Amino acid sequence: MSSVLVTGGAGYIGSHTAKALAAEGFQPIVFDNLFRGHRWAVKYGPFVEGDIRDAEAIRSAMREHQIESIIHFAALAYVGESVEQPGLYFSNNVEGLRTVLQVASEEGVDKVVFSSSCTTYGNPERVPIDESFPQSAVSPYGDTKLIGEHLLRWFETSSGTRSVALRYFNASGADPDGELGEDHDPETHLIPNAILAAMGRIPSLSLFGTDYPTRDGTNVRDYVHVSDLASAHVASLRYLMEGGASTAFNLGSETGSSVREVISMVESVSGKAVPVVEGPRRAGDAIALYASALKAKNDLGWNPVHSDLRTICQTAWRWHSTR
Ligand SMILES: NC(=O)c1ccc[n+]([C@@H]2O[C@H](COP(=O)([O-])OP(=O)(O)OC[C@H]3O[C@@H](n4cnc5c(N)ncnc54)[C@H](O)[C@@H]3O)[C@@H](O)[C@H]2O)c1
Repeated sequence: MSSVLVTGGAGYIGSHTAKALAAEGFQPIVFDNLFRGHRWAVKYGPFVEGDIRDAEAIRSAMREHQIESIIHFAALAYVGESVEQPGLYFSNNVEGLRTVLQVASEEGVDKVVFSSSCTTYGNPERVPIDESFPQSAVSPYGDTKLIGEHLLRWFETSSGTRSVALRYFNASGADPDGELGEDHDPETHLIPNAILAAMGRIPSLSLFGTDYPTRDGTNVRDYVHVSDLASAHVASLRYLMEGGASTAFNLGSETGSSVREVISMVESVSGKAVPVVEGPRRAGDAIALYASALKAKNDLGWNPVHSDLRTICQTAWRWHSTR
């Protein structure tokens, strides 16, 4: 059984990916400091508690578990927090990845799948966004992801480490079997917050901007189901194992959904009203972002099957209803 080090595997996307790896015959070894992740979400293989900036902790996990490849999720991922604390983000995300790549190169682990982000495209001039678009991040968080992609390139030059950078759009939904879901604190994502507002667990959902030049005045984003992201990681690993060259893939549903459309869908699947407080636009928010994911479909054979908005909201609602 091929052992995969899953950094950040106690988090949202990492835990769903550990499940998909185990189902496909891989052994996921979760390495996480539990700063934002959950011990309960590690269910599909061994757990090592440690920080990605601790080279010796990574080395010992790699040796003990005979790691052959890495899926690197571990990062801090709040845009607003990154603007307030850029030092924390560069230390955690950039120094963390550098340490992982350094140890991997010393230990002969030469395949890495990296969580990049659509934020590396900044505010693109048009949609859909494909991988050839210029990358220019507009937040410290986005820059840590962009630098991450550069680090991968330079470690390939120096050590031969091949990589796939997966540029996710908005991860959403929950495990269709109900075993896992999104549990962030603080929660900044639209769909869980709409659900929490419908449940009365938060007083209301804040809607930033109703005068955008979109079909209903609200921002448009691309929501992709977390289990579809998980399957893309397994496909990326197989691609690298079969000798595939380093590259980057967008992962999105290729559908733009507006904030109001998301709210309506949450109301439809839950049968409850979402209390909304409308406010002005937030500085820096792009009008509309959605992906072309053709490259992942063609080169990885990626086939997203859960990423329609109804399934996303239904699985997320079911998950939150059990909490
Ligand atoms: N959620 C999204 O929509 C989205 C979109 C694009 C990219 N991403 C990226 O995907 C990855 C996973 O996102 P997520 O939503 O699952 O986030 P998450 O916060 O749920 O998971 C991240 C995990 O990394 C761990 N971690 C953070 N710093 C660490 C460190 N120094 N050492 C060890 N573990 C550490 C956290 O404890 C957490 O379990 C992140 O790299 C994020 O930037 C997420």
